[in-house]
Amino acid sequence: MNMHSPSNNMKGDFDLSQSDFERIAQVAKVGWGLNLDKAKRPLIKSRLMKRLRALELPDFATYCELIEAKDQNEIGHFITALTTNVTSFYREAHHFEYLENGVIPDLIERAKQGERVRLWSAGCSSGQEPYSLAGSLLSFDKQASSYDLKILATDIDALVLEKAKRGAYPQDDCTFPSPSHESRILKPDADGSQREVHEALKSLISFRHLNLVDQWPISGKFDVIMCRNVAIYFDKPTQARLWSRFRQCLQPNAHLFIGHSERIADPDAIGLKVAGTTTYRPHPMTISA
Ligand SMILES: C[S@@+](CC[C@H](N)C(=O)[O-])C[C@H]1O[C@@H](n2cnc3c(N)ncnc32)[C@H](O)[C@@H]1O
Repeated sequence: MNMHSPSNNMKGDFDLSQSDFERIAQVAKVGWGLNLDKAKRPLIKSRLMKRLRALELPDFATYCELIEAKDQNEIGHFITALTTNVTSFYREAHHFEYLENGVIPDLIERAKQGERVRLWSAGCSSGQEPYSLAGSLLSFDKQASSYDLKILATDIDALVLEKAKRGAYPQDDCTFPSPSHESRILKPDADGSQREVHEALKSLISFRHLNLVDQWPISGKFDVIMCRNVAIYFDKPTQARLWSRFRQCLQPNAHLFIGHSERIADPDAIGLKVAGTTTYRPHPMTISA
């Protein structure tokens, strides 16, 4: 796209005025619940300048027009620039230990009996989180993919979802708590400089594009929801709405895992109780039939 010539930016630098920053922050907040406070202005400026250069735009005001019009070609890049996609296999490993010791055996048993079992990695980034879940399930029972057991993996960022679906990662991104965790997830040999996940893991996961602050085209409840290091970008009211919506999607004996720097302020008020570090379960008094 070459809409404009970069007239005022011979050095490739751009001014981000307070009013343009506020326009950007408003689009991010209304559309995606993202919280861009003033302290983030230099970071936002530096990340979005790359977009202005790529699009050969003259200034931030023109960029604001583009995103206010929800330009479909740009919105994905805009979101990518505003959020971070940092993730890793078995990140915050204590959640996976909790799952493997206290949750997965029961889920597998129920799935074996023909019950429907669903897990959701919400804000899955490039896929390491859902692949870790799949690795834990399959290491417990190699037949897991033959049951009615599925992992839904969603993210707002179409670019990271493409990476997730490919399931191939640079060697440097492939760190694991132990060699046995690694062999559950990755094929033994590198394909060039990339390591690939086992096909069996992919068969358990459906990757979907979903904005957590929009409608959720989701039916049925979940036994496990992981939404870690995502709500941290949202303002407080958006976070509170999100926790409440997750609560409505949980089966009575389900678990909700959130990120290490996230907290649900008053879990009781929305029918959740603390079950472990950043781990919640539905409150027995509020379990709906
Ligand atoms: C830091 S990563 C966390 C990945 C993984 N959950 C973990 O903890 O390793 C945050 C992810 O949240 C996604 N995200 C941010 N806002 C979102 C929204 N409104 N809806 C869905 N995903 C969103 C970003 O695209 C990014 O991939």
